[in-house]
Amino acid sequence: MPDAIVLGGSRGLGKAIADSLTEINYNVTATSRKDIDTSDLDSVRRFAELHKETDVLVLNTGGPPPNTFENVTVDEWQKYHNQLFLGMCVLLKNIHIRDSGYVFMISSSVVKEPAPNLIVSGAYRSAMTSVLKVLSKEMAQRQVSIINIAPGPMDTDRLKELVGDVTEYAKDRPMQRIGKPSELGGLVRGIIENKVKYLSGQTIVLDGAGSDSV
Ligand SMILES: NC(=O)c1ccc[n+]([C@@H]2O[C@H](COP(=O)([O-])OP(=O)(O)OC[C@H]3O[C@@H](n4cnc5c(N)ncnc54)[C@H](OP(=O)(O)O)[C@@H]3O)[C@@H](O)[C@H]2O)c1
Repeated sequence: MPDAIVLGGSRGLGKAIADSLTEINYNVTATSRKDIDTSDLDSVRRFAELHKETDVLVLNTGGPPPNTFENVTVDEWQKYHNQLFLGMCVLLKNIHIRDSGYVFMISSSVVKEPAPNLIVSGAYRSAMTSVLKVLSKEMAQRQVSIINIAPGPMDTDRLKELVGDVTEYAKDRPMQRIGKPSELGGLVRGIIENKVKYLSGQTIVLDGAGSDSV
């Protein structure tokens, strides 16, 4: 049975991915903050000691609270530098992805269209996107594909924290709805199940036609 590690797999988008991979008979390790806190590099190193290799690694974690450049503190920048960026780099350095495996990163559509109140999120996820691009070329020789999925608003606890009344918010979206976590789970599952390997080093925006970027 192939292995998958899904960080942030206890709730929301990560859980939907974990469930979809369990359905196709992956041996899934779905983590919560109790298993690994990506803002704490000791916790990240401990986790990597216990999980030295896998077929699929899903890099996913909690997002920062909304805040503008004026109000973000240095401590906040440092915490999310670790949580969204350095912690992920340490994992990629220490967890071996087996030949023909996959790395997925769950980022955000702000990597394409930065938003003033999500400046921390956009900054570090863009940095990670750059790292993944470089690694995609190195890992391509072993048929390991690296895919960055950049969601727009999706129906999870996180969105409720960000926008409050989700039903009201959804009315102004192009599809008059927000994304279902199962759509993201299905996307990841479909790529793996259909052995789509040629897709690598790219960002897929999953936002129901919400963004203006091409
Ligand atoms: N939902 C959206 O609309 C949306 C849109 C764009 C991007 N995103 C991004 O996609 C990611 C997942 O979003 P979501 O909506 O699924 O969030 P969520 O519902 O808040 O779930 C977050 C998950 O990450 C885990 N987590 C939180 N802080 C962590 C930390 N410091 N270290 C390790 N794991 C941590 C949580 O574990 P616990 O259960 O232990 O708390 C939970 O499993 C986030 O980075 C979010 O910013 C979400």
